[in-house]
Amino acid sequence: MNFPEGFYFGAATSSHQVEGGNHNDWSEWEKANAERLAREAVHSKHKHAWGNLPEYLLNTYPNPRSPQNYISGRASDHYHLFEEDIETAKQLGHNAYRFSIEWSRIEPQEGKFDEQEINHYRAVIRAVRARHMEPFVTLWHWTIPLWLRDKGGVASRNFPKYFARYAERMAKEFKGEVRFWMTLNEPQSVIGNSYMTGIWPPQKKGPISALQAYNRLAETHIEGFKAIRRADTQAKIGLAHAVTYDEPYRNNFLDRLTVNLRSYFNRRRFIALTRGYYDWVGIQYYFHNRISFPGRSHNENKVVSDMGWELYPEGIYHLVREFRKMGVPMYITESGLADSRDTHRADYIRNTLNWIHKAIREGADVRGYFHWSLLDNFEWSNGFWPRFGLIEVDYKTLERKVRPSALIYKEIIQNAHK
Ligand code: BGC
Repeated sequence: MNFPEGFYFGAATSSHQVEGGNHNDWSEWEKANAERLAREAVHSKHKHAWGNLPEYLLNTYPNPRSPQNYISGRASDHYHLFEEDIETAKQLGHNAYRFSIEWSRIEPQEGKFDEQEINHYRAVIRAVRARHMEPFVTLWHWTIPLWLRDKGGVASRNFPKYFARYAERMAKEFKGEVRFWMTLNEPQSVIGNSYMTGIWPPQKKGPISALQAYNRLAETHIEGFKAIRRADTQAKIGLAHAVTYDEPYRNNFLDRLTVNLRSYFNRRRFIALTRGYYDWVGIQYYFHNRISFPGRSHNENKVVSDMGWELYPEGIYHLVREFRKMGVPMYITESGLADSRDTHRADYIRNTLNWIHKAIREGADVRGYFHWSLLDNFEWSNGFWPRFGLIEVDYKTLERKVRPSALIYKEIIQNAHK
């Protein structure tokens, strides 16, 4: 594979999932829901369930059937160990690192910005830059400061305004040190999981609240984009879409219509609402579905992750071809799998990069790939048992161990410009 000069190869994390010690809407929700989540975590053979728990993980630490698994707590303690983790990324050949700033640390009280926490992220950014790696910084990876949760969070009419103030401040602080900003991570996941199915906080289930969240997040991206631009005219600003690759199960009208409607709500409508506010676009791909009307999935599931999600690397190729139409550079800002035994990760990375490479050869302007994730982390309502890391974390000792697949990724990177 011969990737374009300057192509970014890296991995991604998010603040709440790795830092530890956070105090936000999620940390509060976890404490209130951990016992219920532990009770509900039964092993199921149903392969399409969100977070299907396989038998071989039933007795791991923290135990998936104990409340402890569902409380982010000190997580992977990346807040204190970031220097070591970024150094490992460097050793693994990465030339970029995507991470997020935790809004609840920066603005713990409305309008009061915490200088010490700003300096923390300055240190993270400098640790990345010092290693000649490019920081890709996400401003909102789903967690909300408590004062804003109390005002209704995403549902608050002023959410876009609050976000823009925070975004502008960050862009001013880090002007000249951060070029790539991502306003929002995967609005679709929040709309779906918090407002449609109601499994994530604030568990406001219903089509009206979902539509309201949808529109508000589109507006938030636009306001965030403008705010960053005001602070730094050189900034390159994007947003990451969570995209599923759907195919009609049969080639008939209803199955095609189903696929069409899903992609309309999943991304086309959001892109239409935010058109003109992208210097680049982030694509994040985990799910492939062969869909029949009115939405049943018929996946072959030849290979699945620990969570039961079908591994279908080819999907990224079709998505890149679709996103080309936006006419802006594309970055694959997430792609990965929960694979505690590291049996599928290397193949998945290799095949995914092969498909991306094919799209580039055909003229697609893809400029980077970030594996999810750099290290094992807190997988939201599933807690710690899903293992997404290139680096394994022992949650008892916080000891890190590079997984073999990370070395294969390194080899691919080293041979990427030949
Ligand atoms: C999210 C991550 C998450 C990953 C795996 C993405 O949707 O951005 O936070 O851990 O998927 O589920």
